[in-house]
Amino acid sequence: MCGIIGYIGKKQNVIELLINGLKSLEYRGYDSAGIAYLEQDKIKVVKALGKIASLEEKTKNLNILSTLGIGHTRWATHGKPSDENSHPHKVGHVTLIHNGIIENYQVLKEMLLQEGYTFQSETDTEIVAGLLDFYLKQENNKLKLIQQVINLLKGSFALGIIFDDDTNHLYAVRQDSPLILGTAENMNFIASDIPAIIKYTNQYILLENKDIAILSEDSIQIFGENLLKVERKLLTSSLSIEEARKTPYEHFMLKEIMEEPSLLEKIFSIYGFGTPSFLEKIPDLSKYKRIHIVACGSAMYAGLVGKSLMEEYADIETSVYIASEYRYQKNFYQEDTLVIFISQSGETADTIACLRLVKKLGIDTLALVNVYGSTIAREVDQVLYLYAGVEIAVATTKAYLLQVTLLSMLVYRTSIAKDLLNKENQEQIKESILHITKILEEFLNKEFRAEASKIIAKASDVFFLGRGIDYAISLEGSLKLKEISYLHSEAYQAGELKHGTISLVEEGTPVITVITDHRLMDKTMSNLKEVKARGAYNVLITTKDLIKNHDGIDLEIAIDEVHPLLQPLLIVPILQMIAYHTAKIRGCDIDQPRNLAKSVTVE
Ligand code: F6R
Repeated sequence: MCGIIGYIGKKQNVIELLINGLKSLEYRGYDSAGIAYLEQDKIKVVKALGKIASLEEKTKNLNILSTLGIGHTRWATHGKPSDENSHPHKVGHVTLIHNGIIENYQVLKEMLLQEGYTFQSETDTEIVAGLLDFYLKQENNKLKLIQQVINLLKGSFALGIIFDDDTNHLYAVRQDSPLILGTAENMNFIASDIPAIIKYTNQYILLENKDIAILSEDSIQIFGENLLKVERKLLTSSLSIEEARKTPYEHFMLKEIMEEPSLLEKIFSIYGFGTPSFLEKIPDLSKYKRIHIVACGSAMYAGLVGKSLMEEYADIETSVYIASEYRYQKNFYQEDTLVIFISQSGETADTIACLRLVKKLGIDTLALVNVYGSTIAREVDQVLYLYAGVEIAVATTKAYLLQVTLLSMLVYRTSIAKDLLNKENQEQIKESILHITKILEEFLNKEFRAEASKIIAKASDVFFLGRGIDYAISLEGSLKLKEISYLHSEAYQAGELKHGTISLVEEGTPVITVITDHRLMDKTMSNLKEVKARGAYNVLITTKDLIKNHDGIDLEIAIDEVHPLLQPLLIVPILQMIAYHTAKIRGCDIDQPRNLAKSVTVE
């Protein structure tokens, strides 16, 4: 969601620095942007609705060498996207940027209104600036002041703060919203994420909840809840400047799909998949009788693929839940229940809330997370990282694939422990591990054709069909298509469509069917023919030589067959490529689809 960058250091072209930082946070999703900087002892604020290009336009003639500045991309929550509602907000002597939501801002606003404050925006953020300014009159110790104000706040926040009377320092604090501090010679930063600072440094510190940081040109001091100094580990990011660029690809999404073969190879090697060391690196879940998987969006769909595999091969009853529902519903646990959380960012507000709730009950937790040191990674009992690198396209591709990969590994590990896989299956899996990355690489580079997208791009409704695991995969294919191409799309269990929704199928409606499961292929082929009889344009995604009778299929995309435990890893990229090419034909903003944010840090 909102992106934060802040700089303090030797004189720099601060406008360029802040705008470049914001550009590299664009992937988080936003609808307006703004900066504040120190110019001759005064804090100046410039804000613009829309893309960062509009902010750039407004600031293009300003060449300001400055020692201090903050920048922000806003994803609207309180108040529509507008210049007024954009950050930074300046109230009295305080200028501030914020990521998160202040739940009790109305009460606090009332209090400040009574004190004579007036506000320019509808945001919750401006109230925090107001509070700091109000209490500043009584408390000039900035540490005590910030603590006093954050103790009044309910909700989540990462704040970057500049005080008019202390422009040698930049202040930062966080609670349940991510914030890092970057450090290099004669300059220090605050940022939502590494890409914003990677041009200057790969050295960073993760702030803990309620830590207050004071940054100056050459120092970073961090204070814990009791306002005593604390040491936080200095970390080195492996992100390179090259990695943070999309070249040679036109979009980050395509780049990230094309990275998938090498990332599969990387994760196999890190966890020793198919080698004896695997047994130590991936946990055996055989002691659990029930598994809950809790996540949002694509991560939840990855969980559905995991459920299918976990029940089939590891014989453990598995239920998948949407985190925003799970946190408020009645859940049933036995002593032998494990709850698995899946999250690319590790910062999704609903998923974090569920993790805390489950931990309070003393239930075992495991998380599959991409972002190192993120909240979920830090708070869960055991974390398995995805090692996807930074995912910049808002719509997830590589992280989703690696979530499914890790789930397959957990299933494999557990089925070995339970002695549920016969020798033949084990051999086939080992064979598949050896060849799968090559198969995918060759397919993506040589075999994939975008013909299906030409038809799909012209449609108004698209349907995906599949049974069992093929349905779980279709759900993600459908989500990917709708989020980046803005086409209405739905995935159905192949046998279910005729119970109502088939009435929407008309001449030319694209129906994308996934068939990899041998046991169910005839059934699903019958469903494919049912929609053909109603005029559907049938695209079939399957494995080579599986389908013998091609009647009713308009376009077939087939990839090599591997063991069913790993087959989803070859089908998913095909669906991602269809979504990508369809969005491209339709001229959509592929990497930053409208209304979407990469990391959903609010409820
Ligand atoms: C879709 C997408 C979202 C995320 C969801 C969860 O392309 O990216 O549906 O999967 O917002 O995010 P994480 O995985 O960060 O918890």
